Amino acid sequence: MADARPFHWEFKPEPVDSEILRIEGGRRLEGSVRVSGAKNAALKLMAAATLTGERCRFSNVPEIEDVRVLAGVLTDMGVTVDHPEPNVYEIASGDIDWLFVPLEAAAKMRASFILLGPLLTRFGRVIISNPGGDRIGRRPVNLHVDAMRALGAEIEYRNGYYFAKSPGRLRGGPINFPQITVMGTENAMLAAVLADGHTVIEPAAQEPEVDDLIAFLQKMGAEVQRTAPTRIEIEGRRRVRGADHSVVPDRIEAGTFVVAAGVTHGRVTLEGAPCDHLGSFLEVMSDAGVSVSSNGDKIEVDATAADLHPLLCRDIETQPYPGLATDLQPPTCVLLTQAQGDSHVHETVFEDRLEWMGELRRMGADIEIQDQHRALIHGPSRLHGADVEIGDLRAGASLILAALAADGVTTIAGAHHVHRGYEKIDQKFLELGARIERLSGRDVA
Ligand code: EPU
Repeated sequence: MADARPFHWEFKPEPVDSEILRIEGGRRLEGSVRVSGAKNAALKLMAAATLTGERCRFSNVPEIEDVRVLAGVLTDMGVTVDHPEPNVYEIASGDIDWLFVPLEAAAKMRASFILLGPLLTRFGRVIISNPGGDRIGRRPVNLHVDAMRALGAEIEYRNGYYFAKSPGRLRGGPINFPQITVMGTENAMLAAVLADGHTVIEPAAQEPEVDDLIAFLQKMGAEVQRTAPTRIEIEGRRRVRGADHSVVPDRIEAGTFVVAAGVTHGRVTLEGAPCDHLGSFLEVMSDAGVSVSSNGDKIEVDATAADLHPLLCRDIETQPYPGLATDLQPPTCVLLTQAQGDSHVHETVFEDRLEWMGELRRMGADIEIQDQHRALIHGPSRLHGADVEIGDLRAGASLILAALAADGVTTIAGAHHVHRGYEKIDQKFLELGARIERLSGRDVA
């Protein structure tokens, strides 16, 4: 293993070719659409591949910007990343000679911090940029760092970087999180896989993407098990092997298309859908009056009767899984702008995830943002086209939903944010009968 070299990084954000979407709303969506692999599983699986020098092969990987960014970060470190066909990535991490995750990567994608656990536990050191906050909240990484320290790592923070090292192998032990954290759980689990001894993580996140990671780690020969709903136990091994895995379908993308059918009074079938992972969300949908049924790996959404039976208001509160996902809060709010009556929204996971509603108001939604965590939606509102701007991924997808439901033409600036996490979203909507067009920033300027 080569040492991390001294490094002077000059951070120059790359100019982003800001994309604009033009959507003509008011068309009923009909047809079927295939759900892609989950971003929030794929990224962690790719990071897990660095636990071994052997080749790992992933299928059903979504073709999205975040996956490309992580593939680039791994390649820069000396990992071989092949992309032999669409939705398939092969990763071989035999030669990692550059144990450094730069600010540029962290600025593009918070999830780059998931490399802390696997690199530290396998190579004994890593220098990794603090990913900082983003548009949805402060998003500190203290719980990841505390978890590594609980396993015996020494971590110093200097000039925006965590310098992490472990004198020998990390040592298994109890990791008690003061609150549920998804990536914190995953980072701790990845580190514990090659640690010396037994690790118990509590409370462990229960998101389906965490279980997908457990399934992959088990295929690699790791001894990892969920022994209670919020407890994961790991018996550390000296090494793990390469394995193949198909990424779990994306429940957040699926939920986004359910709302698309709901707000356009359409009828949409989702193929390859993660039916078992959408419980709380589908309850909200059916309470609001959207008819959703699942059959094998298909979800059928029929909102055509919403013309006769108006959607109903519904209070919602986001929670860690199995509660209503914070990532589905913005799409759900778009649906609630079309419901009869007042809906209270309580976002409990992130501090700034209601800000995007300002853009939704510009499209005619009647929303009071009461504080960082609470909003009141007075429905129904007739949405109309407007020029709006996207600040983050899920808000972006939700403005697309609002535009599909609105009268007239909406232009959405900053649409490149959406490609971070949704595969071919505009094409999928086109196939369902939407009028949606991609314009580059230049075409409009
Ligand atoms: N938190 C801390 N300290 C930490 C870690 C988390 O205070 O060290 C706080 C967060 O600020 C937040 C809460 O704990 O208030 C929960 O955050 P969590 O760690 O669970 O979030 P995450 O792992 O950083 C993942 C997803 C998010 C998703 C959340 C919650 C990935 C790459 N990201 O983030 O997805 O919203 O879990 O389910 O898995 C998205 O896909 O658009 C997205 C934001």
